[in-house]
Amino acid sequence: MKSKENQTKTIKKPWPTKDVMEQVYDLNLWGDNSSDYYSGFGSHQSEIVKPYVAVVSSFLTSFKKPPTVCDFGCGDFNIGKEFVKYAKKYIAVDIVSDLIAHNKEQFRVENLEFICLDLAIDDLPSADCALVRQVLQHLSNAEVKSVVHKLSAFKYVILTEHLPNGDFIPNKDIISGQGIRLKKQSGLHLLAAPFNFKVKEEKELLSVKLDAGKGVIVTTLYKVF
Ligand SMILES: C[S@@+](CC[C@H](N)C(=O)[O-])C[C@H]1O[C@@H](n2cnc3c(N)ncnc32)[C@H](O)[C@@H]1O
Repeated sequence: MKSKENQTKTIKKPWPTKDVMEQVYDLNLWGDNSSDYYSGFGSHQSEIVKPYVAVVSSFLTSFKKPPTVCDFGCGDFNIGKEFVKYAKKYIAVDIVSDLIAHNKEQFRVENLEFICLDLAIDDLPSADCALVRQVLQHLSNAEVKSVVHKLSAFKYVILTEHLPNGDFIPNKDIISGQGIRLKKQSGLHLLAAPFNFKVKEEKELLSVKLDAGKGVIVTTLYKVF
C-alpha cells in the first residue's frame, strides 16, 4: 500500500478532451437516452433554439453572396442543419469521431462537409464566418486561449456562451468536460484577460434568460477585421 505522503503527491492528469467528450455522448450526460447523440437542452429547447436560428439566419442572408461558414463544435447538428442552405460551403466540425460519422450519414447535402478535429490542437479550416455555440464554455482556459488565437483568422465570429445572471467574475478556469463555469458563478468573456481577443466590433445578437438561477445564453457577433 502507498504511504499517505505518496498518495497526496499523485497528481491526476485530466483526461484528454476527446475522451471526455466521447464519454459525454456515450453515457448521455447531456440527457435524452432516446437519441444516439444528444447535445443538450440548449441545442433542442425551442425557446432557446428558435430565436438563435432566426438571428443567425438573418446575419447569413445579409451577405451579398452566400458566405462560407465553419460550425465549430457542431454537436448533433440539430441547429447547424438550419444554416446549410444559406452558405456557399458549410464545414461542420466536432471532436467526437463517431458523432461526425453519424452526422455524415444523417445529413447529406452537396455544400456540407463534416470534419473531426480538436479545435484546441488542430489547424482549422478557413471561412468567412465561424459559429461557436456552447462549445468554449466546456473547455479549460488553456484550450480556450488556443482556440481564440485561431479565431482571429475569421472575419466574423458568432459566439454563444451560457453565462450567470447579473455581474460575475469572468474566465475562471475549469477542467474541460461536461460542466461549465456557471458552477463557479463565472462564464467566458473573450475580450477580457487572459484571452484578450482583439476585435473591431462587438454586438450582442441575442440573450435568452433561463429559469431562476440557471443563467442566460448570450450570442455575440464579433467583427474581427
Ligand atoms: C454542448 S455541445 C453544442 C453543440 C452545438 N454547437 C449546438 O449548439 O447545438 C458542445 C459540442 O462541442 C464539441 N467539442 C467540445 N470540445 C471540442 C473541441 N476541442 N474541438 C471540437 N469540438 C469540441 C463537443 O463534442 C460537443 O459536440
